[in-house]
Amino acid sequence: MKPIYLLSLIALVSCSGMSSGPYETKIHHVTIAKGQLKKDHELITSDVSITTQGVFASRAAHAMFKKGGNIIDAAMAASFVLAVERPQSTGLGGGGFALFHDVKRDKDFPLTVDFREKAPIKAHEKMFLDDQGNVISRMSLDGIFSSGVPGMVAGMTELHKSHGSLPLKVVMRDAIDLAAKGFKVYPELAYALSRRENIIKRFKATCKIFCNKKGEILKEGDLLVQRDLAKTLRTIARKGRRGFYKGWVAKALVGEHRRLGGLMTYNDLNKYNVKYRDPIRANYHGYEVFSMSPPSSGGVHIVEILNILKNDDLKTYGVQHARTVHLRASAMQAAFSDRANYLGDSDYTYVPVVGLTSQKYADEVRHSIPENQALNGLWSNFSNDPFKYDAKNDSELIKKYESPETTHFTIADGKGNVFVSTQTLNGYLGSGIVVPGTGILLNNEMDDFATKPGANNLFGAVGGKKNLVQPEKRPLSSMSPTIVLKDGKPVLALGTPAGTKILTCVVQTIMNYLDHDMPLYEAITATRIHHQWKPNILYIEDSKLPKNTIEHLKRMGHELRFKKFGCRIQAIAFENGKLHGVSDPRGRGLVSGH
Ligand code: DON
Repeated sequence: MKPIYLLSLIALVSCSGMSSGPYETKIHHVTIAKGQLKKDHELITSDVSITTQGVFASRAAHAMFKKGGNIIDAAMAASFVLAVERPQSTGLGGGGFALFHDVKRDKDFPLTVDFREKAPIKAHEKMFLDDQGNVISRMSLDGIFSSGVPGMVAGMTELHKSHGSLPLKVVMRDAIDLAAKGFKVYPELAYALSRRENIIKRFKATCKIFCNKKGEILKEGDLLVQRDLAKTLRTIARKGRRGFYKGWVAKALVGEHRRLGGLMTYNDLNKYNVKYRDPIRANYHGYEVFSMSPPSSGGVHIVEILNILKNDDLKTYGVQHARTVHLRASAMQAAFSDRANYLGDSDYTYVPVVGLTSQKYADEVRHSIPENQALNGLWSNFSNDPFKYDAKNDSELIKKYESPETTHFTIADGKGNVFVSTQTLNGYLGSGIVVPGTGILLNNEMDDFATKPGANNLFGAVGGKKNLVQPEKRPLSSMSPTIVLKDGKPVLALGTPAGTKILTCVVQTIMNYLDHDMPLYEAITATRIHHQWKPNILYIEDSKLPKNTIEHLKRMGHELRFKKFGCRIQAIAFENGKLHGVSDPRGRGLVSGH
């Protein structure tokens, strides 16, 4: 167990000094967003810890424990309040994943819940292509066809039914009140609204909520009231799942699809099913890592990257030494190349999970990474084959500022229970469509499918054959709620938003904390890197790496680009009987607990 590092002050100052190995004297940290108070972002408690990207959400979840509720009641409160507080990120019209380490469970892995959106039954492989087979610009991102069948309400109400203790109307009360009374638009939300101004103004029901009386989008400090959403939430609080997938809400959802020529029907809503999956699991340096399985790519590639680097003693070099960055970046490239080739919804296509997460495969990949040279041109020859180590064979192998659109929260109680969940509408405000009378924003998760092989999605992820649209299939995701155990006891639980960067931010935080022995706050604030194979660019967050590291990486042939990442890690570590919560100080968030 790690010692507790009391509020690690040095992390606040970018470029602050910390010795971490013979080769490196400084860990560079990103600058913390203006107006974020460190005291809201780190907290050490004994009984309960909640870390979310929503101030109201963390408080609501905390209140459930104070009322005598359990961790699932708290997770319900957090999910539904986040759906009100962060309409740019998540909502009743979206979906997500959750891992629940339940001390009472009789299995040796966490309950792994998939409430990801599904393609409508009428959806098909070529739905985003024109007559010439070209991708129709933004069709998978804006408007009715971008929207999959929502899973969030089914997932959370089902979990509550099986594991919750307080009545639904109690765990949903704060969400209902927040929607009805409203709250002031905060900077992150104002930014998101400005980014989606055009689409908000295109749909009357959307503008009714997110515009003022003059028809201008709401600005920072304006009051956002969501009365229709409050009404929908009240119906769900009374009727549970049926309050969304049947009755007047279902009628409104299907009605809007019909009005706009969309594909979703009552049958889609009736057939929506939550899936309980086996998580991806791996032994790593004496720990057991559990993360999300397909249709998320997250768990597979987190484990793949960890395995590739497992036998490199990177601690000796330090977390921001050029060698560490080079090897991390190269492992990420291998993972993203595999993501494009082998990943999809495993209910519809064979995914060689065993091969991709095997140590032998990882060792083979590691041997093909040059020690001192960026992979660059070598990529075309880079042909590792995970099927060698898999049970089966498969013949059909085949930009800009990124922002925290999705959301993640982590909750732990003093009894050893841990809940992690990442939930999303995909892009800011999803499809941009609010279903009239309901306050529900529809997701644009269909963009996570490959619109055609080789085409990029919103996050630049390359689409492969295994991720083409099929009726009722779930689009490939990067969302990676993750729990690390040692001897069956929780050590670290975490997750983040940020599209394809989710899995690289999660894996770096795990390595920073477990391998480099960094205090949790520093493990999270340290400058991150990201490489996703295509484009062939090594992204560095905010230009904050030691100068000599940058020079060395350039000499190795890495093409560097500096930009902000959208990752907002929400993590809890278990240290000497205490719960150490950190909400990434790059963004809005709050650690609450006692
Ligand atoms: O499932 C996925 O991977 C994406 N739909 C997540 C989107 C996301 O994280 C956007 N936020 N930054």
